[in-house]
Amino acid sequence: MPNKTIFAISGSLRAGSFNHNILRFLQKLAPGEIGFTIYDNLAQIPPFDPGLDHESPPESVAELRSFIKHADGIIICTPEYAYGVPGQLKNALDWTVSSGSLVDKPLALITASTGGESAHAALLLILGALSANVLQEATLLIPFIRSKMDLQGNLTDDSTIESLKAAFDALCAEL
Ligand SMILES: Cc1cc2nc3c(=O)[nH]c(=O)nc-3n(C[C@H](O)[C@H](O)[C@H](O)COP(=O)(O)O)c2cc1C
Repeated sequence: MPNKTIFAISGSLRAGSFNHNILRFLQKLAPGEIGFTIYDNLAQIPPFDPGLDHESPPESVAELRSFIKHADGIIICTPEYAYGVPGQLKNALDWTVSSGSLVDKPLALITASTGGESAHAALLLILGALSANVLQEATLLIPFIRSKMDLQGNLTDDSTIESLKAAFDALCAEL
């Protein structure tokens, strides 16, 4: 029975996403005492509306807030789109501002993209605004992700595998 839980969010909605596959890789690393949930409802989060941003928000938002609230640690793993944070991920994060869901939560940030520097930097700012406990040792930018995974979604680059393991260990140590 897990006594700690990690809640993982992929910023990509794409079937076969590299970022989803990274989360599945990390999920397999999780020891038995750590539960690892990969969020699968990002597409259902409605556009952020300050008028609906209260204690009874839309159902999918309430569920997301509850997942975050009950998790001991968070992983965000995302691509970059048009030099920015994928819109649906940013939208979901906007819904967590007023609820304070991420305040002090140990968080690993992984940006796996073609380049990814801009989205990574923007997310560090956003997560700072949300007062998440972004762990420096669990913060990882993986450029050229396409060349580091095979067609079955397995990581093929040893140094990326080692970096991901180190980031995951750093998060687990903070749970
Ligand atoms: C509309 C669009 C815009 C993109 N813009 C960028 C970008 O600005 N920087 C970047 O590093 N990659 C960019 N990419 C490439 C994605 O990061 C790459 O396809 C990545 O693998 C997507 O992540 P996923 O495999 O998890 O879906 C873009 C892809 C799309 C579809």
